Amino acid sequence: MRYNGQAMHLLAIETSCDETSASVLRDDRTILSNIVLSQDEIHAPYGGVVPELASRQHLKSIDPVVRESLAVAGIELDGVDYFAVTQGPGLIGSLLVGVSFAKGLAYYHRKPLLGIDHVQAHMEAAFLENPVLPLPALALIVSGGHTSLFVLRRRLSFELLGRTRDDAAGEALDKIAKFLDLGYPGGPVIQRLAEPGDPESFAFVLPRMTDRSLDFSFSGLKTAAIRIVRENGLSKDHPRLPDFLASFEAAVVRTLLKNLARASERVEPKSLLLCGGVARNKRLRTRFEAAARAAGLEWAIPTGKLCTDNAAMVGALAWTRIEAGLEIPSSFDLDASPRSGSKV
Ligand code: KG4
Ligand code: ZN
Repeated sequence: MRYNGQAMHLLAIETSCDETSASVLRDDRTILSNIVLSQDEIHAPYGGVVPELASRQHLKSIDPVVRESLAVAGIELDGVDYFAVTQGPGLIGSLLVGVSFAKGLAYYHRKPLLGIDHVQAHMEAAFLENPVLPLPALALIVSGGHTSLFVLRRRLSFELLGRTRDDAAGEALDKIAKFLDLGYPGGPVIQRLAEPGDPESFAFVLPRMTDRSLDFSFSGLKTAAIRIVRENGLSKDHPRLPDFLASFEAAVVRTLLKNLARASERVEPKSLLLCGGVARNKRLRTRFEAAARAAGLEWAIPTGKLCTDNAAMVGALAWTRIEAGLEIPSSFDLDASPRSGSKV
């Protein structure tokens, strides 16, 4: 998409949870900058995201993060043709910071502003590096806030097949890490400490839905994990901790892939996508790839930085919508929405 032969630029903003991020993308999807300022250190003492602290930190960070994204991309605000911002789902106080900031920029510079769904943006990240993935694609989204399965029958069509009924996969990892006082966020800590462990050493019974639903549940695994910790007197420095963490991590991975396999039988996709922060997990990536290969399907997992919350994925979905010619409502009407449901 060119205007008078000139490349066009889009500035995307993401503040739905605990990362303040801004990214500049050219119309050919080249990521000119993708600045992500994590708030991990702020939330670490609490073992989870504290919404009030998150929104206050976004307020402090948004201006410098946007400035840096422009500086790294080598453009000025005047050179931005479109703005995009995560509209939801997420923490309402955090979302409002990004939405208000983006609205102000779009209004002042008289440019269109697109409101983007965070979960859909996670899926779009897979297309950034693999633009010609065959459809239908079955997408597994695993993050700290979401664990869902979607089928993408066409580009920009996202059909929900199942979601977690309690904790998200990342949340379960974060909570067990917190229970053992291992640090926050729990997923990467568990991955590191579990590396030398034996994933077969502690038995976990995987959750099973009694109906035909493709929903997930992690509360049973979490309760079982806490019981094992107590019964075996496991703690931070216990010699069997790596075995326990490897077994728990493997149980989370098996739960995710079991549902993916069931969904795959129903949907008969041509490709499989793995997206969201937990998609950084090595065990999950390896097993997911093996499952896709065994099923003879193409697959895509974004590189690490595009898995965790970032604004480039938001910008990528915005460009796809612009190219599809979807109507862009007035930026005055755009509002943050804590639940999923923005229209595409
Ligand atoms: O997508 P994301 O950045 O934020 C949400 O939208 O929730 O995901 C954050 C989640 C956290 O629960 C974190 O523990 C998990 O992703 N995570 C990982 C890894 N890196 C991040 N989980 C397992 N292994 C990792 N390497
Ligand atoms: Zn996310």
